[in-house]
Order: sequence, then structure tokens, then C-alpha cells
Amino acid sequence: MKILKTQIAIIGAGPSGLLLGQLLHNAGIDTLILERQTPDYVLGRIRAGVLEQGMVELLRQAGVGQRMDAEGLVHTGFELALDARRVHIDLQALTGGKTVMIYGQTEVTRDLMAARREAGAQTIYEAGNVVPHGMKTEETFVTFEKDGELYRLDCDYIAGCDGFHGVARQSIPAECLKVFERVYPFGWLGILADTPPVHEELVYARHERGFALCSMRSATRTRYYLQVPADEHVENWSDQRFWDELKSRLPGTLAASLITGPSIEKSIAPLRSFVVEPMQYGQMFLVGDAAHIVPPTGAKGLNLAASDVSTLFNILLKVYREGRVDLLEKYSEVCLRRVWKAERFSWWMTSMLHRFDDNDAFSLRIAESELEYFVDSEAGRKTIAENYVGLPYEAIE
Ligand code: APR
Ligand code: PHB
Repeated sequence: MKILKTQIAIIGAGPSGLLLGQLLHNAGIDTLILERQTPDYVLGRIRAGVLEQGMVELLRQAGVGQRMDAEGLVHTGFELALDARRVHIDLQALTGGKTVMIYGQTEVTRDLMAARREAGAQTIYEAGNVVPHGMKTEETFVTFEKDGELYRLDCDYIAGCDGFHGVARQSIPAECLKVFERVYPFGWLGILADTPPVHEELVYARHERGFALCSMRSATRTRYYLQVPADEHVENWSDQRFWDELKSRLPGTLAASLITGPSIEKSIAPLRSFVVEPMQYGQMFLVGDAAHIVPPTGAKGLNLAASDVSTLFNILLKVYREGRVDLLEKYSEVCLRRVWKAERFSWWMTSMLHRFDDNDAFSLRIAESELEYFVDSEAGRKTIAENYVGLPYEAIE
């Protein structure tokens, strides 16, 4: 067995692992990232595209903000379409100047990979059978296989940044974790197309046929979604069927100006709310999707990963620079306070905007009335806006 050594062993080279790795590397703390897949596989996953201001600032702090600042689109608001009615949520005016950045997760990941390569920090791709050990002892390490050889990576701490299906959470004894979960009876069918956006802002549409979202990656690339039943198959959806259904769910003015084209990607994602508590087991910390999942309606998944990274980074900085090991046990509670607020917002946006087939007539009117109350009241719009741009990160002291 070959022995390697680092300060922080990071499992997973998604946005969580790469961003944590970059911040730590810049601060002179040694990291090694173990990733199961190839870089191309990681970059092939089409995911979210809305960055909160806190995440934008964190990426700049990590030194990877240049391309985002040049190519990303700053959005000062978004639109809610309630059947035929269009409501503008002016994020900037309602939050005292805050905005969001439209920049794809794929691009964030690409920039982080490039920065890590340039910095000469090590990532081992196609690492097999990654297993964390000794999390509750002084002798913490990770074993893995690469090119047929067995390795042992000795470390001070492990960051489990390996997503929902990763090994980190699964290696914690079940009796030490409490799981909170809701699975929704529908999914999102998404397509990517090289067409101009139907509107300059994102449009979240509630309609009796089901929810629809008009999003974008740039001025020439769009991402659209439709609510579909959880057991729907992507093969049943020709491009034509997708565009026709999307038009039927949008207000007439928008449907009329929708430009369609061939899809370059089409897939269905299930919707789920999931949180595990605590987000820590001894010397191992769970970060991002490894600890929590939100339905995409609030655009919070990637942003929550970033706030976990910020919390862990700031704690580790104080541990290494000031010997503040007392802060380590604060990680989970600090993260969970923000995680649960984003879980609530994502669940609420999902509940307000989707069609639930099992709703009785009374529940349906209550849901419609609740959303109408929020959009017709300045206080309500402020509540939506301050959650959408992202709640503040907690300081580590
Ligand atoms: N060993 C090594 N790597 C693993 C293992 C394993 N056993 N299991 C998973 N991984 C890798 C995956 O291949 C993936 O590249 O961990 C990475 C996890 O990345 P993501 O799933 O993207 O999770 P995360 O980095 O937390 O990103 C935040 O929030 O809502 C979402 O869309 C958003 O994917 C984004 C996520
Ligand atoms: C996306 O562009 O993929 C996207 C945007 C906003 C969301 C979810 C997904 O709420």
C-alpha cells in the first residue's frame, strides 16, 4: 500500500470540493481531492445556473471570478407568471441593492478545475473504492484505489464533498444521523437549446397544467423546464411536444415571443427535500449535496453548497492559524441554521408553484390565495426577494 499525506482530504471534485480546495490552497493549507469520475464526466452534468451574491463574492475571494464577471449575466429581478398574470419581483429594489448572477454550474466547475491545475494542487480523478476511516480517532485517513494500486491518505480532517450518492455520509453509523426527507410526486423535464431567451429575466410560471420555468445560460443559450409526473420518460418528449407544452403554460404575451429550436440536452430530474443532521462525524465534515438536497425551484442547491464551504473554510482557517479547535464542533449547527431556511424557501416555492394532483378544491384555493397575498403585498415581495438573493452567511468568531 502506498502512503500519502495531506492536511485536508477532500472527497469529490464537484463545486463544493473544488471551491473548498481552492480557498484552502490559497490560504496555504494543503489539500488532496479524490474524485471517482473523470473531469469530462464531472463537466458533462448540466445543473443549476443562478448564483447568489454571497457565492459570487466567495468565488472572487477564491480568485476564480474573472470569467464569471466577464461572461455572467447580472439579474436585478425575476418574473412570476400566475396563469395569465405577470408579476415582476424587483430583487434589487426590494433588497436594498442585491442581485443574482446567471452563470452555469458547469462553468463554475470548469473555472475551479483550471485554477486548481494552475495552482499545482493535486486532484486524483478516477479514484476507486474511496473509504474514510478513523473519523472519531486521532488517526484519520482515507483509502482508495488508483490504477490497480491501493493507497492510504493520512490527513487531519476529511471534507465529504461527494454529493447525495457519495460515500462520506454513508460511512457514518446510521444511529448517529437523523434524516429529514420529502419526495415530491413530480420531476422537472429540462432542455438546453441554442435559442435567445424568451424574456430578459427568469420566469417562474404557475399554471393549471403544471409548473414551467424559463431560464438561460447566456444571451444565446436557454434552459427551460416543465413539471412532469415522477414516472415520466424523457423518450416520450419530442422537442415539438416540449415547446408546445411550454407555450401552453406561459402567459400569451410570452408564448407568442418564444423562439424554439433543436434541444442539445434533455433530461428529467426528480424533486426532493433532504437534510441529514448533524453534518459532522468526528473529524469528517459533510458539505453541499452530501448533507442536503433542495428541490430546484428556489435555485438554492449550489448556493447552499457554497455557504457550507465558506463556513468550513473559515473554521479551518482559525483552527490552523489560531489553534481554535473549539470551533470544529460548531460547523454543523452554523450550517444547519442557513440550510433549514433555504429548505423552507425551496419547499414553499415548490408548493406554491406546482400542481399537486392530490390537492382538494379548498387546498388549491388556499395555495393560490397565499401566493397572491405575497405578490400583492410589498412585505410579501420583500420576503420572496430576500430569500431568493440569499440570506447572509454567519460570521465565524
Ligand atoms: N468517491 C469519490 N468521489 C465521489 C464519490 C466517491 N465515492 N461519490 C461521489 N463522488 C463525486 C461525484 O462524482 C461528484 O463529482 O463527488 C462529486 C459531488 O459533486 P456534486 O454532486 O455536484 O455535489 P456538490 O459538489 O456538493 O455540488 C453542489 O448542489 O444542488 C446542487 O446542482 C447543485 O450539484 C450541485 C450541488
Ligand atoms: C437553471 O437555469 O437551471 C435554473 C434556474 C433557476 C432555478 C432552477 C434551475 O430555480
